[in-house]
Amino acid sequence: MQLTPPPLPAGAKCKRCSGRGQMRLPSHNTIFCSDCFLLFCRNAVAKAMKKFGIPRETDLLVAVSGGKDSLAVWDILNELGYRTRGVHVNLGIDTFSDESVRAVEEFASSRNLPWSSHSIADLLGWTIDEIRPRTRRSICSICGAIKRQMLNRLAVDLGYGTVVSGHNLDDEAGRLLGNILRNRTQYFDKQYPYLPSPHPRMPAKLKPLYRLESHELRAYCHFASIRPHSASCPYARGASSHKVKEALNLLETKMPGTKRDFLFSYLRNRKPPQTDLSELRLCEKCGAPSWLPVCSVCALKAQLDAKRGEPEPRPEG
Ligand code: FES
Ligand code: ZN
Repeated sequence: MQLTPPPLPAGAKCKRCSGRGQMRLPSHNTIFCSDCFLLFCRNAVAKAMKKFGIPRETDLLVAVSGGKDSLAVWDILNELGYRTRGVHVNLGIDTFSDESVRAVEEFASSRNLPWSSHSIADLLGWTIDEIRPRTRRSICSICGAIKRQMLNRLAVDLGYGTVVSGHNLDDEAGRLLGNILRNRTQYFDKQYPYLPSPHPRMPAKLKPLYRLESHELRAYCHFASIRPHSASCPYARGASSHKVKEALNLLETKMPGTKRDFLFSYLRNRKPPQTDLSELRLCEKCGAPSWLPVCSVCALKAQLDAKRGEPEPRPEG
């Protein structure tokens, strides 16, 4: 269930400038015109940057998938005067990956922003489409680990100390609820929108959209003339994280502001977590920071390479 804000009452006015109301925000009990709404979104990001003490002169590497959230965060940081560079990880998922490169390319050239695309096939020798039929593990968690490692590497190689991602309030509230439901207390500490760099080869991770809801970002792209790709990853269908978000959206429609209150009350009085590095080492094969002698990506690559030459597994279904 996607949250769609209720329609605007006839003749609604912007509560900030009294112009024509175009966007209703039930969780803030307010209505904005398009300009005031864009300002509201930019202020939410500026507030996050101030809270985490990220000065304007910080160079930021923005991980962009071509979806609404990553393009919106890139646009807003650029509008706020940060120096940004986009980096796209090409996963090699049929149609979806081509669409995502197209959206990033179109946006970057419209704003004249630097960016580059890097294929996981160059890192691993395998695409996500090739890995999926060859593993029993969840492809989403494999994909997440590969992306994390690739982004760490790219940040180090390109000389960036901070990687920005487009996770929004729905993502963060959903993740928190998912961890609470399964009592995964070991992840609680890491649930914070800013993780400072714990190691020279592990850049800081920043989620400046954690104050904005998914539907607000969809509207931001519309009013800022951004054309994100609309496809969602074909492998994410039915993921439990989606169901948790749906449950939160159901509550949100009955009790506007629930998601915000839930996440913000959890984050209140928390500080950016410190990572204990006493057990950290460098992967014997690739030199990436790892908790085991061989990192998870190199271990996966070895498994896949051992099967190279075997007949292609049949597609499922
Ligand atoms: Fe990685 Fe869907 S985006 S598996
Ligand atoms: Zn490795």
